[in-house]
Amino acid sequence: MKEMIKEIEKLKKEKNAIILAHNYQRKEVQEIADFLGDSLELARKAASLSADVIIFAGVSFMAETAKILNPDKKVLLPEESAYCEMAEMVDVKELKKLREKYPDAAVVSYINTTAETKTLTDIVCTSANAVKIVESVPQNKIIFVPDKNLGTYVKKRTKKEIILYDGFCYVHHKLIMKKDIEKIREEYPDAHIMVHPETPEEIQEMADSILSTGQMIKQAGKIKEKTIIVGTEIGMVDRLKRDFPDKNFIPLTMRARCRGMKEITLESILNSLKYDRYEIVLDKEVMEKAKIPIERMLKVK
Ligand code: 13P
Ligand code: SF4
Repeated sequence: MKEMIKEIEKLKKEKNAIILAHNYQRKEVQEIADFLGDSLELARKAASLSADVIIFAGVSFMAETAKILNPDKKVLLPEESAYCEMAEMVDVKELKKLREKYPDAAVVSYINTTAETKTLTDIVCTSANAVKIVESVPQNKIIFVPDKNLGTYVKKRTKKEIILYDGFCYVHHKLIMKKDIEKIREEYPDAHIMVHPETPEEIQEMADSILSTGQMIKQAGKIKEKTIIVGTEIGMVDRLKRDFPDKNFIPLTMRARCRGMKEITLESILNSLKYDRYEIVLDKEVMEKAKIPIERMLKVK
């Protein structure tokens, strides 16, 4: 592994490349990343880079966002099969019909969407800023795409009318269950339970805090309880343990593993640097249209 890391470092310098990684990446991938963050932090970082090559250790919508914000740079996703299953849930025809049905509504799309979905979007949001983004648009009616759980979270925190799309993340919606949170409460009655807003409403209601992955890191040090239960993808536990070695982080369930995120390995990153693969190539018109709602989001402070 040491040899592989050395080679990655050498190639990175030679190619003026930077590695951006999401908080759900494998521990060893997190350790070699130049920048690690949640979707919002990664999009902000991608908008301000000077490197020639961006290696994206994450899923395809994240690498696409980096490409849209850097059309002249080479953006590489180390594994072609690293994609977010929720992002693929939007049926573009259905979204077009929704827009026609509600012409006075704003389309707010979660960043976990394809570039094509973003071309039909007024403004993008992430789990860290969804309420703020919904509040920032002039329309009182919102078509919220695609995560119904994040949409429900927003609905409870705004007076605006939210039209939900029937999408979800299988990791948070299906693999994190009510019985897991009931069991862990019994086992650790003094622990703080944090969950991601992609979990179902009943799970959110049973938790102590509902946070994006970036917010989990910001809050972990402030939480008084020494034991913190992490209700999101298991990679987050490694991230938190490294930043807060004095606290005790326990995954809500070990089932919460995102296949797409775990596709990326050190070996695939090395091959990505060696062979320039897999380059993100998007249609120019799609990139130009998709950039508008992403930039609108980045302007909201
Ligand atoms: P964050 O933006 O909170 O990191 O979430 C991204 C994601 O894919 C959650 O499943
Ligand atoms: Fe997509 Fe869910 Fe994986 Fe996040 S955890 S990247 S929402 S499939």
